[in-house]
Amino acid sequence: MSYSNIKKLVYQRTGLTFDAYRTMILREKISRQMTALDMDDMETYCYEISRNKELFDDLVDGLTINESYFYREAYHLDCLSQWVVPKLMTGETGKEEISILSAGCSTGEEPCSIAMALDQAHGPSALARLHISGVDIDRTALSKARAGIYGKWKVRQLTPSMLSRYFDPIHGDRFVVKPDILKKIVYYHHNLMDKPMAKMRHAMDFIFYRNVSIYFDTTTRVKVLSHLDRMLKPGGYLVMGATETLSHNTGQLPLVEMDGCFVYQKPAKSTPAHCKTGGSSGEDHPWESAPGPDSPPGEEGEPATDGTSMENSMFLYEKSLTLARQKEFDHALALLEPVLEKKDGMMEKAGILRAGLLIQKGDTETAGRLCRQFIETNPHCAPACLLLGMIAGMDHHPREGLKRFLETTHIDPGNWLAHFLMFQTYQALGNQNKASRQAAIVISLLEKGRESHHGLDYFPFSFSREDILQLCRKQSTLNV
Ligand SMILES: C[S@@+](CC[C@H](N)C(=O)[O-])C[C@H]1O[C@@H](n2cnc3c(N)ncnc32)[C@H](O)[C@@H]1O
Repeated sequence: MSYSNIKKLVYQRTGLTFDAYRTMILREKISRQMTALDMDDMETYCYEISRNKELFDDLVDGLTINESYFYREAYHLDCLSQWVVPKLMTGETGKEEISILSAGCSTGEEPCSIAMALDQAHGPSALARLHISGVDIDRTALSKARAGIYGKWKVRQLTPSMLSRYFDPIHGDRFVVKPDILKKIVYYHHNLMDKPMAKMRHAMDFIFYRNVSIYFDTTTRVKVLSHLDRMLKPGGYLVMGATETLSHNTGQLPLVEMDGCFVYQKPAKSTPAHCKTGGSSGEDHPWESAPGPDSPPGEEGEPATDGTSMENSMFLYEKSLTLARQKEFDHALALLEPVLEKKDGMMEKAGILRAGLLIQKGDTETAGRLCRQFIETNPHCAPACLLLGMIAGMDHHPREGLKRFLETTHIDPGNWLAHFLMFQTYQALGNQNKASRQAAIVISLLEKGRESHHGLDYFPFSFSREDILQLCRKQSTLNV
């Protein structure tokens, strides 16, 4: 018995697969649990974990990625509130009550956003006719959801008026969801790999299943979809994240366009014949006959090789970016490793982010090597050129820096940051004429609203846009 047996067990029961990052977390958790249980024998631990549900659930808590925030992919909320709910409430069917499930609700931002969006669009009387539930496998996430307390980062998409309407501020930078919203949502600890709870069978008008399947392989996706299908009422809708929708378009649930959003809709009457082929239990769950999972894809540290790879890389990249902005540099770097190992379409972006993080940590040598590798394979990689210029500046080689910034502007003429860094370098070298010329270019680019155009997703500015404009204006008036 070893780590790979535990991974296999976790995969079979939850669908979670293991890249290098999750393997690292698993090892840490196992070691913590074994210490707490005073166990030093891996075989006994494996046996315990396979038969003791409490222990197994503890292990899974913290293995999942719970990233979520309010009004994520808000167009789904618009779609739900502006088009679907009025239709269900006042349309031909005249339904009075609507049930919505957030499957993989994490810390509650998604179900709360649903309640807020519907309250905002239709008022408290509509809210009273809604039943909103959230399920998740992670009990720690669920207790946070029940508490309803969030930091500033989680509410970053909300307007100040939404924030004051639906939250009460508490000490520091934290906010608690107002009771009329919080009490609307019922949370359940549930594994989507398990059969649906009796009360949820054929009960849902809507299921939000967003940003959950990105971690699943095809076998798991098929199995979870069969369970979600069983939870939907005939005619009910399944809403998935933008990156997930197409990868689930296997033909079993029809994809329909609704107010500009693509969602799946369960057929209103009986399940079409083609969906029933191969089913064995007689219920309308067309995917049930798919082979059950028996082994995790990839061995120790190996990435999954199916279509989830790119989506997973995108997610890990975003997560790493968030951590970088929170100054969690080591954690952010660890998340990028599996992305770089996979060498997929996210590799260049991940490499540039890695180089930026290494610069932050003072390792300009490795960062420089990484950037040069990118330029060897792609001579038009402007962000790598830009970073090399910054590294040269830090290493007191301003002329080498200028050469790199110039290269950057040849590749990417609108890159205001390269022009700004040239302005600063010329200024430091005492060349006021050239500094003024660059300052004028920066002003013109920033005044055209190009402040996000510099090619680096992560770059901690010590100056605001206004500071930069002020510095450049001061210079450009000196020598024109
Ligand atoms: C990234 S969060 C997505 C949260 C939210 N749906 C959103 O889009 O913001 C994914 C959630 O899915 C949950 N999850 C993963 N596997 C699960 C499973 N087998 N059963 C239930 N929940 C699961 C994780 O615990 C995590 O909280």
